[in-house]
Amino acid sequence: MERNHVPEPAILVIFGASGDLTWRKLVPAVFNLRIDGHLPGEFAVLGLDRKEMTDDEFRDRMRDGVDRASRRGKTDDAAWNPFAQSLHHMLADFGDAKSYEVLKKRLQALAKDWKSEPNYIFYLAVPPELFGPVAAQLGQCGLARLRNRTFLVLEKPFGHDLESARELDRQLTATFHESQLYRIDHYMGKETVQNILAFRFANSLFEPIWNRRYIDHMQITVAESNGVEHRGGYYDKAGALRDMVPNHLFQILSMVAMEPPISFDADEVRNKKGDVLKAVRPIPADQVSKFAVRGQYDAGWTKGQKVAAYRKEPRVDPKSNTETFVAVKLFVDNWRWQEVPFYLRTGKRLAARYSEVVVYFRPVPHSTFPTSCQPNWLPNRLAIRIQPEEGIQLRIMAKHPGLTMRLDPVEMKFSYAASFQIQSPEAYEALLLDVIEHDPTQFLRDDMIEAGWSLVQPILDAWGNDRITDFPNYEAGSWGPDAATHLLANDGRSWSRPKVEE
Ligand code: BG6
Repeated sequence: MERNHVPEPAILVIFGASGDLTWRKLVPAVFNLRIDGHLPGEFAVLGLDRKEMTDDEFRDRMRDGVDRASRRGKTDDAAWNPFAQSLHHMLADFGDAKSYEVLKKRLQALAKDWKSEPNYIFYLAVPPELFGPVAAQLGQCGLARLRNRTFLVLEKPFGHDLESARELDRQLTATFHESQLYRIDHYMGKETVQNILAFRFANSLFEPIWNRRYIDHMQITVAESNGVEHRGGYYDKAGALRDMVPNHLFQILSMVAMEPPISFDADEVRNKKGDVLKAVRPIPADQVSKFAVRGQYDAGWTKGQKVAAYRKEPRVDPKSNTETFVAVKLFVDNWRWQEVPFYLRTGKRLAARYSEVVVYFRPVPHSTFPTSCQPNWLPNRLAIRIQPEEGIQLRIMAKHPGLTMRLDPVEMKFSYAASFQIQSPEAYEALLLDVIEHDPTQFLRDDMIEAGWSLVQPILDAWGNDRITDFPNYEAGSWGPDAATHLLANDGRSWSRPKVEE
Protein backbone atom coordinates (compact mmCIF):
# COMPACT_ATOMS: atom_id res chain seq x y z
CA MET A 1 0.00 0.00 0.00
CA GLU A 2 2.83 2.42 0.77
CA ARG A 3 4.91 3.64 -2.17
CA ASN A 4 8.14 4.49 -0.43
CA HIS A 5 10.78 2.48 -2.20
CA VAL A 6 12.09 2.02 -5.71
CA PRO A 7 10.93 -1.38 -6.93
CA GLU A 8 13.27 -4.06 -8.24
CA PRO A 9 14.22 -4.24 -11.93
CA ALA A 10 11.43 -5.74 -14.00
CA ILE A 11 10.42 -6.75 -17.50
CA LEU A 12 6.75 -6.47 -18.36
CA VAL A 13 5.95 -9.02 -21.07
CA ILE A 14 2.61 -8.29 -22.70
CA PHE A 15 0.98 -11.16 -24.57
CA GLY A 16 -1.37 -9.56 -27.08
CA ALA A 17 0.60 -6.36 -27.62
CA SER A 18 -1.29 -5.26 -30.72
CA GLY A 19 -4.63 -5.36 -28.87
CA ASP A 20 -6.65 -2.46 -27.63
CA LEU A 21 -5.81 -2.91 -23.95
CA THR A 22 -2.06 -2.56 -24.51
CA TRP A 23 -2.42 0.50 -26.64
CA ARG A 24 -5.13 2.30 -24.74
CA LYS A 25 -4.44 1.34 -21.13
CA LEU A 26 -1.25 -0.56 -20.35
CA VAL A 27 1.42 1.46 -22.11
CA PRO A 28 -0.12 4.84 -21.20
CA ALA A 29 -0.16 3.62 -17.58
CA VAL A 30 3.49 2.53 -17.70
CA PHE A 31 4.46 5.83 -19.31
CA ASN A 32 2.74 7.80 -16.55
CA LEU A 33 4.44 5.65 -13.92
CA ARG A 34 7.77 6.52 -15.54
CA ILE A 35 6.99 10.26 -15.56
CA ASP A 36 5.93 10.11 -11.91
CA GLY A 37 9.18 8.38 -10.95
CA HIS A 38 7.64 5.09 -9.81
CA LEU A 39 9.55 2.75 -12.10
CA PRO A 40 12.98 1.31 -11.43
CA GLY A 41 15.78 2.52 -13.75
CA GLU A 42 16.08 -0.99 -15.12
CA PHE A 43 12.71 -1.64 -16.63
CA ALA A 44 11.53 -2.84 -20.04
CA VAL A 45 8.30 -3.68 -21.82
CA LEU A 46 8.33 -6.53 -24.30
CA GLY A 47 5.20 -6.72 -26.45
CA LEU A 48 4.39 -10.10 -28.00
CA ASP A 49 1.96 -10.99 -30.75
CA ARG A 50 1.59 -12.64 -34.11
CA LYS A 51 2.23 -9.45 -36.04
CA GLU A 52 5.66 -8.80 -37.51
CA MET A 53 6.75 -5.39 -36.29
CA THR A 54 10.07 -3.68 -35.63
CA ASP A 55 10.74 -2.11 -32.25
CA ASP A 56 10.42 1.30 -33.87
CA GLU A 57 7.06 0.49 -35.40
CA PHE A 58 5.86 -0.78 -32.05
CA ARG A 59 7.08 2.39 -30.34
CA ASP A 60 5.26 4.59 -32.86
CA ARG A 61 2.03 2.69 -32.37
CA MET A 62 2.35 2.92 -28.59
CA ARG A 63 3.04 6.64 -28.78
CA ASP A 64 -0.14 7.10 -30.74
CA GLY A 65 -2.02 5.27 -27.96
CA VAL A 66 -0.42 7.39 -25.27
CA ASP A 67 -1.17 10.58 -27.20
CA ARG A 68 -4.81 9.65 -27.46
CA ALA A 69 -5.50 7.89 -24.20
CA SER A 70 -3.15 9.15 -21.52
CA ARG A 71 -4.64 11.36 -18.81
CA ARG A 72 -1.73 13.71 -19.48
CA GLY A 73 -2.66 14.15 -23.13
CA LYS A 74 -0.14 14.39 -25.93
CA THR A 75 3.45 13.41 -25.18
CA ASP A 76 6.47 15.59 -25.84
CA ASP A 77 9.73 14.26 -27.26
CA ALA A 78 11.72 15.00 -24.13
CA ALA A 79 9.57 12.65 -22.04
CA TRP A 80 8.73 10.12 -24.74
CA ASN A 81 12.09 9.43 -26.40
CA PRO A 82 13.96 8.04 -23.39
CA PHE A 83 10.88 6.03 -22.37
CA ALA A 84 10.47 4.63 -25.90
CA GLN A 85 13.89 3.00 -25.62
CA SER A 86 12.42 0.63 -23.03
CA LEU A 87 9.71 -0.63 -25.42
CA HIS A 88 10.42 -3.74 -27.49
CA HIS A 89 8.46 -6.04 -29.72
CA MET A 90 8.68 -9.73 -30.53
CA LEU A 91 6.82 -11.87 -33.03
CA ALA A 92 5.37 -14.93 -31.28
CA ASP A 93 2.97 -17.77 -31.79
CA PHE A 94 1.48 -18.37 -28.35
CA GLY A 95 0.80 -22.04 -29.10
CA ASP A 96 4.32 -22.84 -30.30
CA ALA A 97 6.99 -23.93 -27.81
CA LYS A 98 9.71 -22.44 -30.06
CA SER A 99 8.37 -18.93 -29.44
CA TYR A 100 8.90 -19.42 -25.71
CA GLU A 101 12.52 -20.48 -26.28
CA VAL A 102 13.03 -17.30 -28.29
CA LEU A 103 11.30 -15.35 -25.52
CA LYS A 104 13.71 -16.74 -22.94
CA LYS A 105 16.69 -15.61 -24.97
CA ARG A 106 15.15 -12.22 -25.59
CA LEU A 107 14.56 -11.71 -21.86
CA GLN A 108 18.16 -12.63 -21.11
CA ALA A 109 19.38 -10.19 -23.76
CA LEU A 110 17.24 -7.35 -22.45
CA ALA A 111 18.60 -7.68 -18.93
CA LYS A 112 22.16 -8.58 -19.97
CA ASP A 113 23.77 -5.47 -18.52
CA TRP A 114 21.43 -4.98 -15.59
CA LYS A 115 22.85 -5.07 -12.08
CA SER A 116 20.53 -7.80 -10.86
CA GLU A 117 18.15 -10.35 -12.25
CA PRO A 118 14.78 -8.74 -13.01
CA ASN A 119 11.28 -9.77 -12.04
CA TYR A 120 9.20 -11.07 -14.92
CA ILE A 121 5.62 -9.90 -15.21
CA PHE A 122 3.69 -11.83 -17.84
CA TYR A 123 0.56 -9.89 -18.68
CA LEU A 124 -2.05 -11.90 -20.56
CA ALA A 125 -3.93 -9.36 -22.67
CA VAL A 126 -5.27 -12.23 -24.75
CA PRO A 127 -8.64 -14.03 -25.11
CA PRO A 128 -9.39 -16.06 -21.95
CA GLU A 129 -9.20 -19.40 -23.77
CA LEU A 130 -5.44 -18.75 -24.08
CA PHE A 131 -4.84 -18.22 -20.34
CA GLY A 132 -4.33 -21.92 -19.59
CA PRO A 133 -2.25 -22.77 -22.70
CA VAL A 134 0.07 -19.75 -22.31
CA ALA A 135 0.56 -20.51 -18.60
CA ALA A 136 1.42 -24.11 -19.47
CA GLN A 137 3.93 -23.06 -22.15
CA LEU A 138 5.60 -20.64 -19.74
CA GLY A 139 5.91 -23.50 -17.29
CA GLN A 140 7.29 -25.96 -19.83
CA CYS A 141 10.07 -23.65 -20.92
CA GLY A 142 11.05 -22.93 -17.32
CA LEU A 143 9.85 -19.33 -17.24
CA ALA A 144 7.47 -19.83 -14.30
CA ARG A 145 10.05 -21.39 -12.03
CA LEU A 146 11.17 -18.39 -9.99
CA ARG A 147 8.25 -18.12 -7.63
CA ASN A 148 9.32 -14.81 -6.08
CA ARG A 149 10.29 -13.22 -9.37
CA THR A 150 7.71 -14.36 -11.90
CA PHE A 151 4.13 -13.17 -11.95
CA LEU A 152 1.18 -13.79 -14.21
CA VAL A 153 -1.38 -11.02 -14.65
CA LEU A 154 -4.81 -11.88 -15.99
CA GLU A 155 -7.80 -9.86 -17.03
CA LYS A 156 -11.36 -10.99 -16.52
CA PRO A 157 -13.35 -13.01 -17.53
CA PHE A 158 -12.06 -15.68 -15.17
CA GLY A 159 -14.29 -18.37 -16.59
CA HIS A 160 -17.90 -18.02 -17.67
CA ASP A 161 -19.50 -19.93 -14.80
CA LEU A 162 -18.50 -21.74 -11.63
CA GLU A 163 -17.26 -24.90 -13.28
CA SER A 164 -15.21 -23.16 -15.99
CA ALA A 165 -13.68 -20.85 -13.36
CA ARG A 166 -12.60 -23.89 -11.36
CA GLU A 167 -11.18 -25.49 -14.49
CA LEU A 168 -9.23 -22.33 -15.34
CA ASP A 169 -7.86 -22.31 -11.84
CA ARG A 170 -6.75 -25.93 -12.16
CA GLN A 171 -4.92 -25.04 -15.38
CA LEU A 172 -3.19 -21.99 -13.93
CA THR A 173 -2.18 -23.60 -10.65
CA ALA A 174 -0.74 -26.59 -12.48
CA THR A 175 2.12 -24.20 -13.33
CA PHE A 176 1.90 -21.15 -11.10
CA HIS A 177 1.51 -20.82 -7.37
CA GLU A 178 -1.49 -18.76 -6.23
CA SER A 179 0.91 -16.06 -4.94
CA GLN A 180 2.20 -15.57 -8.50
CA LEU A 181 -1.29 -14.92 -9.93
CA TYR A 182 -2.53 -11.34 -10.16
CA ARG A 183 -6.17 -11.34 -11.31
CA ILE A 184 -7.08 -7.80 -12.24
CA ASP A 185 -10.39 -6.15 -11.56
CA HIS A 186 -9.82 -2.63 -12.81
CA TYR A 187 -12.47 -1.29 -10.40
CA MET A 188 -10.05 -2.05 -7.58
CA GLY A 189 -7.60 0.45 -9.06
CA LYS A 190 -10.12 3.27 -9.06
CA GLU A 191 -9.21 5.96 -6.54
CA THR A 192 -12.74 6.20 -5.21
CA VAL A 193 -13.12 2.44 -4.72
CA GLN A 194 -9.92 2.44 -2.70
CA ASN A 195 -11.23 5.43 -0.80
CA ILE A 196 -14.07 3.30 0.57
CA LEU A 197 -11.48 1.71 2.87
CA ALA A 198 -10.07 5.06 3.94
CA PHE A 199 -13.53 6.44 4.53
CA ARG A 200 -14.63 3.48 6.62
CA PHE A 201 -11.49 2.68 8.55
CA ALA A 202 -9.63 5.99 8.95
CA ASN A 203 -12.61 7.79 10.48
CA SER A 204 -14.05 6.90 13.85
CA LEU A 205 -17.39 8.43 12.91
CA PHE A 206 -18.86 5.86 10.58
CA GLU A 207 -17.84 2.44 11.84
CA PRO A 208 -20.09 2.49 14.95
CA ILE A 209 -23.17 3.07 12.78
CA TRP A 210 -22.10 0.83 9.92
CA ASN A 211 -24.41 -2.05 10.75
CA ARG A 212 -27.97 -3.36 10.79
CA ARG A 213 -28.91 -1.22 13.76
CA TYR A 214 -28.55 2.03 11.82
CA ILE A 215 -28.54 1.06 8.17
CA ASP A 216 -31.80 0.25 6.45
CA HIS A 217 -30.35 -0.91 3.13
CA MET A 218 -27.61 -0.23 0.60
CA GLN A 219 -27.70 0.27 -3.14
CA ILE A 220 -24.78 -0.25 -5.49
CA THR A 221 -25.20 1.06 -9.01
CA VAL A 222 -22.81 0.85 -11.93
CA ALA A 223 -24.71 2.52 -14.75
CA GLU A 224 -23.35 3.04 -18.24
CA SER A 225 -24.77 5.25 -20.95
CA ASN A 226 -22.81 3.50 -23.69
CA GLY A 227 -24.09 0.44 -25.46
CA VAL A 228 -21.96 -2.60 -26.25
CA GLU A 229 -19.98 -0.62 -28.84
CA HIS A 230 -17.60 -2.89 -30.79
CA ARG A 231 -17.75 -5.73 -28.23
CA GLY A 232 -21.00 -7.36 -29.37
CA GLY A 233 -19.28 -10.68 -30.14
CA TYR A 234 -18.00 -11.08 -26.58
CA TYR A 235 -20.91 -9.43 -24.83
CA ASP A 236 -23.65 -11.41 -26.52
CA LYS A 237 -22.18 -14.57 -24.99
CA ALA A 238 -21.47 -12.97 -21.61
CA GLY A 239 -24.32 -10.57 -20.74
CA ALA A 240 -24.48 -8.00 -17.97
CA LEU A 241 -24.55 -10.52 -15.13
CA ARG A 242 -21.30 -12.27 -16.03
CA ASP A 243 -19.64 -9.10 -17.31
CA MET A 244 -20.13 -6.97 -14.21
CA VAL A 245 -21.57 -8.72 -11.17
CA PRO A 246 -19.21 -11.46 -9.91
CA ASN A 247 -16.33 -9.04 -10.42
CA HIS A 248 -16.85 -5.26 -10.23
CA LEU A 249 -20.10 -5.18 -8.26
CA PHE A 250 -19.09 -7.90 -5.83
CA GLN A 251 -15.76 -6.19 -5.24
CA ILE A 252 -17.55 -2.98 -4.32
CA LEU A 253 -19.98 -4.94 -2.16
CA SER A 254 -17.15 -6.59 -0.28
CA MET A 255 -15.46 -3.23 0.35
CA VAL A 256 -18.58 -1.65 1.83
CA ALA A 257 -19.62 -4.69 3.85
CA MET A 258 -16.30 -6.12 5.08
CA GLU A 259 -15.22 -6.24 8.71
CA PRO A 260 -12.32 -3.93 9.66
CA PRO A 261 -9.04 -5.59 8.72
CA ILE A 262 -6.39 -5.74 11.43
CA SER A 263 -3.78 -4.40 9.02
CA PHE A 264 -3.28 -3.77 5.34
CA ASP A 265 -1.53 -7.04 4.90
CA ALA A 266 -2.70 -8.33 1.49
CA ASP A 267 -4.16 -11.56 2.75
CA GLU A 268 -5.74 -9.95 5.78
CA VAL A 269 -7.65 -7.52 3.54
CA ARG A 270 -8.56 -10.24 1.07
CA ASN A 271 -9.69 -12.58 3.83
CA LYS A 272 -12.06 -9.93 5.14
CA LYS A 273 -13.38 -9.17 1.65
CA GLY A 274 -13.74 -12.85 0.84
CA ASP A 275 -15.68 -13.37 4.08
CA VAL A 276 -18.40 -11.05 2.81
CA LEU A 277 -18.88 -13.03 -0.38
CA LYS A 278 -18.89 -16.28 1.54
CA ALA A 279 -21.57 -14.88 3.85
CA VAL A 280 -23.94 -13.79 1.08
CA ARG A 281 -27.11 -15.86 1.32
CA PRO A 282 -27.35 -18.15 -1.70
CA ILE A 283 -30.35 -17.51 -3.93
CA PRO A 284 -32.55 -20.63 -3.96
CA ALA A 285 -32.90 -22.09 -7.45
CA ASP A 286 -36.70 -21.80 -7.38
CA GLN A 287 -36.73 -18.19 -6.15
CA VAL A 288 -34.43 -16.47 -8.62
CA SER A 289 -37.21 -14.23 -9.95
CA LYS A 290 -37.72 -12.81 -6.42
CA PHE A 291 -34.07 -11.79 -6.15
CA ALA A 292 -32.86 -11.01 -9.66
CA VAL A 293 -34.29 -9.19 -12.67
CA ARG A 294 -32.90 -8.63 -16.13
CA GLY A 295 -33.40 -6.30 -19.04
CA GLN A 296 -32.29 -5.65 -22.58
CA TYR A 297 -32.21 -2.22 -24.18
CA ASP A 298 -34.39 -1.18 -27.06
CA ALA A 299 -33.73 1.77 -29.37
CA GLY A 300 -33.88 5.16 -27.70
CA TRP A 301 -32.03 8.41 -27.13
CA THR A 302 -28.66 8.94 -25.48
CA LYS A 303 -26.90 12.29 -25.18
CA GLY A 304 -29.30 13.77 -27.72
CA GLN A 305 -28.69 11.04 -30.28
CA LYS A 306 -30.94 8.28 -31.51
CA VAL A 307 -29.34 4.94 -30.74
CA ALA A 308 -30.12 1.41 -31.90
CA ALA A 309 -31.62 -1.47 -29.95
CA TYR A 310 -29.20 -4.05 -28.54
CA ARG A 311 -30.41 -6.63 -31.06
CA LYS A 312 -29.34 -4.30 -33.88
CA GLU A 313 -25.79 -3.81 -32.57
CA PRO A 314 -22.91 -5.23 -34.64
CA ARG A 315 -22.13 -8.91 -33.98
CA VAL A 316 -25.21 -9.37 -31.81
CA ASP A 317 -27.76 -12.07 -32.58
CA PRO A 318 -30.90 -10.27 -33.90
CA LYS A 319 -32.97 -12.54 -31.62
CA SER A 320 -30.57 -12.31 -28.72
CA ASN A 321 -31.78 -13.19 -25.26
CA THR A 322 -28.72 -11.69 -23.61
CA GLU A 323 -29.37 -9.28 -20.77
CA THR A 324 -27.82 -5.81 -20.88
CA PHE A 325 -29.21 -4.90 -17.46
CA VAL A 326 -29.33 -6.81 -14.22
CA ALA A 327 -30.49 -6.00 -10.70
CA VAL A 328 -30.15 -8.32 -7.72
CA LYS A 329 -31.15 -8.23 -4.09
CA LEU A 330 -28.76 -9.92 -1.68
CA PHE A 331 -28.44 -10.49 2.05
CA VAL A 332 -25.21 -10.93 3.93
CA ASP A 333 -25.73 -13.51 6.64
CA ASN A 334 -23.57 -12.31 9.51
CA TRP A 335 -24.05 -10.36 12.73
CA ARG A 336 -23.39 -7.00 11.17
CA TRP A 337 -25.75 -7.26 8.20
CA GLN A 338 -28.49 -9.71 9.09
CA GLU A 339 -31.67 -8.79 7.12
CA VAL A 340 -30.18 -5.63 5.58
CA PRO A 341 -30.84 -5.83 1.84
CA PHE A 342 -28.07 -4.95 -0.61
CA TYR A 343 -29.53 -3.99 -3.98
CA LEU A 344 -27.07 -4.13 -6.88
CA ARG A 345 -27.76 -3.01 -10.43
CA THR A 346 -25.83 -2.44 -13.59
CA GLY A 347 -26.73 -1.89 -17.19
CA LYS A 348 -25.77 -0.47 -20.52
CA ARG A 349 -27.54 2.37 -22.35
CA LEU A 350 -28.93 3.77 -19.13
CA ALA A 351 -29.77 7.43 -18.62
CA ALA A 352 -26.26 8.36 -17.46
CA ARG A 353 -22.82 6.97 -16.73
CA TYR A 354 -22.38 6.86 -13.00
CA SER A 355 -21.28 4.43 -10.31
CA GLU A 356 -22.31 4.95 -6.76
CA VAL A 357 -22.83 3.26 -3.42
CA VAL A 358 -25.79 4.67 -1.53
CA VAL A 359 -26.33 3.89 2.12
CA TYR A 360 -29.82 4.54 3.48
CA PHE A 361 -30.06 4.96 7.24
CA ARG A 362 -33.02 4.05 9.40
CA PRO A 363 -35.40 6.78 10.53
CA VAL A 364 -34.90 8.25 14.01
CA PRO A 365 -36.40 5.92 16.66
CA HIS A 366 -38.81 8.58 17.90
CA SER A 367 -39.91 11.59 15.91
CA THR A 368 -39.69 14.69 18.09
CA PHE A 369 -40.90 16.84 15.22
CA PRO A 370 -44.43 16.32 13.95
CA THR A 371 -44.92 15.47 10.28
CA SER A 372 -46.30 18.95 9.68
CA CYS A 373 -42.80 20.38 10.49
CA GLN A 374 -41.09 18.13 8.00
CA PRO A 375 -43.36 17.58 5.00
CA ASN A 376 -40.32 16.71 2.86
CA TRP A 377 -38.81 14.27 5.34
CA LEU A 378 -36.23 11.90 3.89
CA PRO A 379 -33.98 9.42 5.69
CA ASN A 380 -30.27 10.17 6.13
CA ARG A 381 -28.46 8.97 3.07
CA LEU A 382 -24.78 8.68 2.35
CA ALA A 383 -23.76 8.52 -1.30
CA ILE A 384 -20.24 7.46 -2.21
CA ARG A 385 -19.76 8.45 -5.82
CA ILE A 386 -17.22 6.29 -7.64
CA GLN A 387 -17.53 8.06 -10.99
CA PRO A 388 -17.93 10.67 -12.37
CA GLU A 389 -17.76 13.74 -10.05
CA GLU A 390 -16.06 11.52 -7.47
CA GLY A 391 -16.94 12.36 -3.92
CA ILE A 392 -19.13 11.73 -0.92
CA GLN A 393 -22.46 13.30 -0.12
CA LEU A 394 -24.41 13.08 3.12
CA ARG A 395 -28.08 14.00 3.30
CA ILE A 396 -29.29 15.33 6.63
CA MET A 397 -32.43 17.03 7.84
CA ALA A 398 -31.88 20.69 8.84
CA LYS A 399 -33.98 23.56 10.05
CA HIS A 400 -35.17 25.81 7.31
CA PRO A 401 -34.28 29.46 8.13
CA GLY A 402 -37.35 31.32 9.42
CA LEU A 403 -39.54 31.81 12.42
CA THR A 404 -41.36 28.53 12.14
CA MET A 405 -39.93 25.08 12.87
CA ARG A 406 -39.71 23.60 9.43
CA LEU A 407 -37.19 20.94 8.50
CA ASP A 408 -35.85 20.17 5.06
CA PRO A 409 -33.29 17.74 3.66
CA VAL A 410 -29.91 19.25 2.76
CA GLU A 411 -26.71 17.77 1.35
CA MET A 412 -23.18 18.00 2.76
CA LYS A 413 -20.65 17.40 -0.01
CA PHE A 414 -17.05 16.37 -0.34
CA SER A 415 -15.75 16.56 -3.89
CA TYR A 416 -12.43 15.04 -4.90
CA ALA A 417 -11.86 17.63 -7.58
CA ALA A 418 -12.53 20.59 -5.28
CA SER A 419 -10.65 19.26 -2.24
CA PHE A 420 -7.52 17.87 -3.80
CA GLN A 421 -7.22 19.66 -7.14
CA ILE A 422 -4.86 17.08 -8.54
CA GLN A 423 -5.41 14.54 -11.22
CA SER A 424 -5.94 10.98 -9.98
CA PRO A 425 -3.85 8.24 -11.53
CA GLU A 426 -5.67 5.84 -13.83
CA ALA A 427 -6.77 2.48 -12.38
CA TYR A 428 -4.16 0.66 -14.48
CA GLU A 429 -1.37 2.84 -13.12
CA ALA A 430 -2.23 1.87 -9.56
CA LEU A 431 -2.66 -1.80 -10.39
CA LEU A 432 0.45 -2.18 -12.55
CA LEU A 433 2.53 -0.53 -9.87
CA ASP A 434 1.08 -2.95 -7.33
CA VAL A 435 2.24 -5.86 -9.50
CA ILE A 436 5.68 -4.32 -9.96
CA GLU A 437 5.91 -3.89 -6.17
CA HIS A 438 4.47 -7.38 -5.50
CA ASP A 439 1.46 -6.12 -3.60
CA PRO A 440 -1.55 -8.36 -4.30
CA THR A 441 -3.97 -6.56 -1.92
CA GLN A 442 -6.21 -5.24 -4.69
CA PHE A 443 -6.20 -8.41 -6.78
CA LEU A 444 -8.73 -11.22 -6.75
CA ARG A 445 -7.79 -14.44 -5.07
CA ASP A 446 -9.08 -17.84 -6.26
CA ASP A 447 -11.49 -18.19 -3.32
CA MET A 448 -13.05 -14.77 -4.07
CA ILE A 449 -13.59 -15.73 -7.70
CA GLU A 450 -15.14 -19.02 -6.69
CA ALA A 451 -17.41 -17.38 -4.12
CA GLY A 452 -18.53 -14.84 -6.74
CA TRP A 453 -19.43 -17.46 -9.32
CA SER A 454 -21.16 -19.64 -6.72
CA LEU A 455 -23.47 -16.74 -5.94
CA VAL A 456 -24.46 -15.97 -9.52
CA GLN A 457 -24.63 -19.60 -10.66
CA PRO A 458 -28.30 -20.13 -9.63
CA ILE A 459 -29.24 -17.03 -11.63
CA LEU A 460 -27.26 -18.20 -14.65
CA ASP A 461 -28.96 -21.60 -14.42
CA ALA A 462 -32.45 -20.17 -14.10
CA TRP A 463 -31.99 -17.66 -16.92
CA GLY A 464 -30.27 -20.19 -19.14
CA ASN A 465 -33.25 -22.53 -18.87
CA ASP A 466 -35.91 -20.00 -19.43
CA ARG A 467 -36.35 -18.12 -22.72
CA ILE A 468 -37.48 -14.64 -21.94
CA THR A 469 -40.31 -13.23 -24.03
CA ASP A 470 -40.40 -9.54 -23.13
CA PHE A 471 -36.98 -8.45 -24.46
CA PRO A 472 -36.25 -5.68 -25.30
CA ASN A 473 -37.83 -4.30 -22.15
CA TYR A 474 -36.24 -0.91 -21.55
CA GLU A 475 -35.58 2.05 -23.75
CA ALA A 476 -32.03 3.21 -24.32
CA GLY A 477 -31.55 6.34 -22.21
CA SER A 478 -33.95 5.21 -19.45
CA TRP A 479 -33.15 3.79 -16.01
CA GLY A 480 -33.80 0.18 -16.95
CA PRO A 481 -36.80 -2.15 -16.97
CA ASP A 482 -39.88 -1.78 -14.78
CA ALA A 483 -38.96 -5.07 -13.15
CA ALA A 484 -36.01 -3.32 -11.48
CA THR A 485 -38.31 -0.68 -10.05
CA HIS A 486 -40.62 -3.41 -8.74
CA LEU A 487 -37.73 -5.28 -7.12
CA LEU A 488 -37.38 -2.39 -4.67
CA ALA A 489 -41.00 -1.24 -4.68
CA ASN A 490 -42.03 -4.68 -3.39
CA ASP A 491 -39.94 -3.88 -0.32
CA GLY A 492 -41.35 -0.35 -0.06
CA ARG A 493 -38.17 1.25 -1.42
CA SER A 494 -36.97 2.97 -4.58
CA TRP A 495 -33.70 3.39 -6.45
CA SER A 496 -31.71 6.51 -5.86
CA ARG A 497 -31.77 8.86 -8.85
CA PRO A 498 -28.77 11.16 -8.81
CA LYS A 499 -28.45 14.31 -10.85
CA VAL A 500 -25.69 13.49 -13.31
CA GLU A 501 -24.40 15.71 -16.07
CA GLU A 502 -23.53 13.70 -19.16
C1 BG6 B 1 -15.56 -3.89 -18.09
C2 BG6 B 1 -16.76 -4.49 -18.77
O1 BG6 B 1 -15.00 -4.80 -17.20
O2 BG6 B 1 -15.97 -2.73 -17.36
C3 BG6 B 1 -17.40 -3.47 -19.69
O3 BG6 B 1 -16.36 -5.62 -19.52
C4 BG6 B 1 -17.73 -2.21 -18.94
O4 BG6 B 1 -18.56 -4.00 -20.31
C5 BG6 B 1 -16.51 -1.70 -18.18
O5 BG6 B 1 -18.13 -1.23 -19.89
C6 BG6 B 1 -16.88 -0.54 -17.27
O6 BG6 B 1 -15.70 0.04 -16.75
P1 BG6 B 1 -15.62 1.59 -16.40
O7 BG6 B 1 -14.26 1.75 -15.80
O8 BG6 B 1 -15.79 2.33 -17.69
O9 BG6 B 1 -16.73 1.86 -15.45
